[in-house]
Amino acid sequence: MQDLDRLIAEALAVFERIEDPAQLEQAKARYLGKSGALTDLLKGLGKLPAEERPAAGSRINQAKQQLEDALARRREAIQGKKMEVRLAEEALDVSLPGRGLGVGGLHPVTRTLERIESLFRSIGFDVASGPEIETDFYNFTALNIPEDHPARAMHDTFYVEGGALLRTHTSPVQVHYMQKHQPPLKIIAPGRVYRCDSDVTHTPMFHQVEGLWVDENVTLATLKGVLGDFMQRFFERENLPVRFRPSFFPFTEPSAEMDIGCVICGGSGCRVCSHTGWLEVLGCGMVHPNVLKHVNIDSEKYLGFAFGLGVERMAMLRYGVNDIRLFFENDLRFLKQFN
Ligand code: DAH
Repeated sequence: MQDLDRLIAEALAVFERIEDPAQLEQAKARYLGKSGALTDLLKGLGKLPAEERPAAGSRINQAKQQLEDALARRREAIQGKKMEVRLAEEALDVSLPGRGLGVGGLHPVTRTLERIESLFRSIGFDVASGPEIETDFYNFTALNIPEDHPARAMHDTFYVEGGALLRTHTSPVQVHYMQKHQPPLKIIAPGRVYRCDSDVTHTPMFHQVEGLWVDENVTLATLKGVLGDFMQRFFERENLPVRFRPSFFPFTEPSAEMDIGCVICGGSGCRVCSHTGWLEVLGCGMVHPNVLKHVNIDSEKYLGFAFGLGVERMAMLRYGVNDIRLFFENDLRFLKQFN
């Protein structure tokens, strides 16, 4: 029994020094395991006189319990220390300021497109779309531009292998739409178009909005009213002067180009308007009967007007941007100005 007290003291001291869970289990085996020191003592009980055995047995069992308790406490202590170390290592300074998310903004071309769309929607136009890879038929033939027509040369077309092409304008959407819908119809068709051309005012890809209104009594007067109102609302100038100059497009007859009073100089003359006081902003006209024939619409019964405008040009004029290429360089210093 003297051995027992010494043994307990020794075991407790050993446990207390151990820092590693595996070593602690090994130490447990040394004292409490099958051939551990305490177990040996229990086995030795038989050698005691019978009257001393119960007291000694219960002493040994108490000792066992004492060691088990000490082990459990030690295990917890080791775990606790480990956790403290981990917490210290992974410490977060919750008082540091956060990394704010910068607010993005719409691209000026997108903003312009959305503005044009909403102005036309507000007077009852639907928004239609069509493919950017087109066939010769939709991009040219159906629009009254037959093969070998000189107007084809004006388009700087990108051809795709296999005879398809990248649409050079959004006018083919007129054809797609009229193949599927009968008049009355009133749409705009915004989208990307492609031309092999590049300088301060031209990029190989740019955006157009096509417009088409076909009904029984749509006239040149409707065209003038709608487009004049649109320009005034787009540029937010109530008395914006507009004028129409005779022009030629194969898919309209008569055709016109629309000018507005220069929104940069107010008409007094500047570099943007080449000192004329006028800016050309779109092409338009009354839909050519041949175009209606291609899509089986009765050109005796229906009349229509159409127009096409360049979105980048509208954005340049509205925001005072002097180089179209700025829109596609994605320089944040430029883009941030439109947030
Ligand atoms: N498609 C013409 C172009 O890209 C623009 C245009 C002119 C469209 C007159 C029209 C129109 O619908 O009537 O140059």
